[in-house]
Amino acid sequence: MTLNEIAKKMCAKGKGILAADESTGTIAKRFKSINVENLEKNRLKFRQTLFNSSAMKNYIGGVILFDETIKQKTTLGPTIPELISKHGAIPGIKVDKGAKPLAGSNDETVTEGLDGLRERLQEYYDLGARFTKWRAVYKISNNFPSSQSIKSNAHALARYAALVQEAKMVPIVEPEVLMNGSHNIEKCYQITADVLDECFNELEIHKVDLKGIVLKPNMVLPGSECKDKSTPEEIAKKTMDCLKKNVPSDVPGIAFLSGGQSEINSSKNLNEINKINDSKFLITFSYGRGLQASALKEFGKNQDNDAKIQKAFNHRAKMNGLSSKGEWTEDLEKESAA
Ligand code: 13P
Repeated sequence: MTLNEIAKKMCAKGKGILAADESTGTIAKRFKSINVENLEKNRLKFRQTLFNSSAMKNYIGGVILFDETIKQKTTLGPTIPELISKHGAIPGIKVDKGAKPLAGSNDETVTEGLDGLRERLQEYYDLGARFTKWRAVYKISNNFPSSQSIKSNAHALARYAALVQEAKMVPIVEPEVLMNGSHNIEKCYQITADVLDECFNELEIHKVDLKGIVLKPNMVLPGSECKDKSTPEEIAKKTMDCLKKNVPSDVPGIAFLSGGQSEINSSKNLNEINKINDSKFLITFSYGRGLQASALKEFGKNQDNDAKIQKAFNHRAKMNGLSSKGEWTEDLEKESAA
């Protein structure tokens, strides 16, 4: 498959991406919230239960894995990438090494991981990965993000994307403007526009083929502490406008992160965006918390009750699959959950 075909398959109508690439530190936080010990066997059990659920075939185009996970063998027989491929989804891999303090700018980060990346990409390709992820993080406050943070993160994202395409994989380019803070939706719009603009500048400089990437942005939202709440219709309108003005039309797929929104809001907002999507972009989800929160709760109650864990995951995957077509409704949400 060409890079463009892979990107389109990851974001095919009715499907999206499962972001199960929590680092060992991040999954520790998730497991702590459900009183599960952060052991390798528990991480494997949770993930293989999700990857073996019926939702995989119908609603999941790709799964983003963490380094440990892509190398694991399931207790069901196949390796993790084999299990994912068996269900018709594409295995992918997070290749950044995390957001590290940015020298010269208090309290901001730059994402690292370029050293040795070419060699690591070869290894991941051989393990079955056909796409990758790199996440840059931007905070909003009176002084942030600085142009230093916007420029350094865009530069790293572009160098990453160029290396990934050289290795014949699709880079997910993820510039995440965080929703933490009391800023309003206009501020989020303006910062997201600035961030996207700089990312596409750098991608062009580094000769990245935009037909062979997937963009993973934040939705345009008011800050989580903002007093003025926005309706899904407003969020959809602002998000769509920001994307149409700042993302070149060659990009085949846009897959949002959930970023700390509730499961229902993640589905509702994606649905509204697709209802008004008059662009050529395939617009879908690449959710971590937005797809896994309920399943994680079930795992906390009983790690061996695969049926309940999978039921919760199947439901969220189905709802987001509907949202990727603008066909989600409150009634379907209740019916399918029952
Ligand atoms: P959330 O959907 O939980 O924000 O995670 C998506 C992701 O991959 C963040 O990098």
